[in-house]
Amino acid sequence: MPKWLKNAVFYEIYPQSFYDTNGDGIGDIPGIIEKLDYVKELGCSALWINPCYDSPFKDAGYDVRDYKKVAPRYGTNEDLYRLFKTAHKKGIRVLLDLVPGHTSEEHEWFKASGKAERNEYSDRYIWTDCWIAGMEGHPYIGGECERDGTYMLNFFKSQPALNYGFYRPKWPWQISYKDERVKKTREALWDIMCFWLDKGCDGFRVDMADSLVKDDGEGKPGTCEIWREIRKKLDKQYPEAALVSEWCNPEAAICNAGFHADFYLDHWGNGYNTLMRDYEPNGDENDNTYFKKDGNGDISRFLKEYLPRLEKIKGKGYISLITCNHDTPRPARKLDESELKLAFATILTLPGVPFIYYGDEIGMKYVENMPTKEGGYTRTGTRTPMQWDNTRNCGFSSAPAKKLYLPVDVKGTSVAKESKNKDSLFNTVKALTALKNSCKDLSADAPFEVVLGKKGKPFVYRRGRLLIVVNPADRASSVKVDICGEIGKCIYSIGNTEIKDGKINAGAQSFAVFKEDDR
Ligand code: GLC
Ligand code: CA
Repeated sequence: MPKWLKNAVFYEIYPQSFYDTNGDGIGDIPGIIEKLDYVKELGCSALWINPCYDSPFKDAGYDVRDYKKVAPRYGTNEDLYRLFKTAHKKGIRVLLDLVPGHTSEEHEWFKASGKAERNEYSDRYIWTDCWIAGMEGHPYIGGECERDGTYMLNFFKSQPALNYGFYRPKWPWQISYKDERVKKTREALWDIMCFWLDKGCDGFRVDMADSLVKDDGEGKPGTCEIWREIRKKLDKQYPEAALVSEWCNPEAAICNAGFHADFYLDHWGNGYNTLMRDYEPNGDENDNTYFKKDGNGDISRFLKEYLPRLEKIKGKGYISLITCNHDTPRPARKLDESELKLAFATILTLPGVPFIYYGDEIGMKYVENMPTKEGGYTRTGTRTPMQWDNTRNCGFSSAPAKKLYLPVDVKGTSVAKESKNKDSLFNTVKALTALKNSCKDLSADAPFEVVLGKKGKPFVYRRGRLLIVVNPADRASSVKVDICGEIGKCIYSIGNTEIKDGKINAGAQSFAVFKEDDR
């Protein structure tokens, strides 16, 4: 386990929309370098950068054409190496996005794989043995290559699935995941990882980490075996490198596959109630997000799913709660500023390694009805340029507005504006990260215990010697709780909360952290 991870607060950067330094309307790596002090000032100690590799950008870069080359629109490989170096000097770690399940259809491997004559890459993708075949629940494409067969997709049409084999092959063209022919794909993946780790990257956020072995068994044992093998090599050669999975199943990802952390997500049909979004049993999203001040939210719906998962991974890895990511609506779609403050406060004080998506710290809006860009569809409204100040294009780029990657939400706020207001969400987030960074009891694996987690009541929990109280409702609430040990003094608060005569009196929309006195 990399030592730095348990104290990390991550900042996710969608590079195309962060900061443009050469006026072409697209964010770039030199732009990230220039804003490292901003990241540091925000209190974040690690970055996750969405794919920045060469790509035709049919899925915003998740369609990789060359894993070892930075997309020219973002800069050069040297720029990225410089980013690692500069970030490290400032105490910031950098995770790249690793896309192991598929490439772009324009990747050289795929072009070779589609050739009629057999070659080194013929088995790198999943091909049937007949041009008209299409099989069992997976999407297959025919008619694109000279090879007599169809190939499996992993996501969009532009993203053919890499071949890590099948768990139990059923047809002659299906290869077992243990077969030497597909073990070459694993080797290629490890080779890409080493390439970036050797250049100074601190690990990876792993895209669709559970998608490697096809028709995998219950709990994905084939895919887990591949990751365990990688983790073993990582522990030996790069013990300080971190692996964070997009799996949405902490038990499988952490206990069985060996990831250090797994995201707590609510999309791609994994359907958990997260802190930010709440769902009906039939999967429809409702309006009862926990932090809404109408008080209709119910923390027990989140805890019911979260606590057992947390218990299973105890001592083995971390769950990563997120403000949102590049695939989900921004939290400001449902929550106003006062509600967002409590959301950040909670995410930054619960166990695990938290992730802040760029712009959420200033309450950037989800821009409704944005025309799709690079395969974004409804995700596009979450990917608009960062709003830095009140100059042209909100300081994102000097390009003419119509040349920008996406339109800037010029009606929205900006870092410059928010930083001036003492009570802004931005300054609250900074205070919270500072609190987290200065309290051992708020590190990822410090003890956690729910004291009270019931609908209509304040949410009360302990982290080590801290007692934390959240009351999102716009009315005060008093509860009598059995708290053993000293309560001590309040070290951080939003709104008013007091503990008196064995009762917690939580004011409307309040958050408070009490710390036991030093003995
Ligand atoms: C992941 C990414 C998403 C991408 C998909 C295919 O879910 O987060 O943005 O479109 O994988 O790579
Ligand atoms: Ca640029």
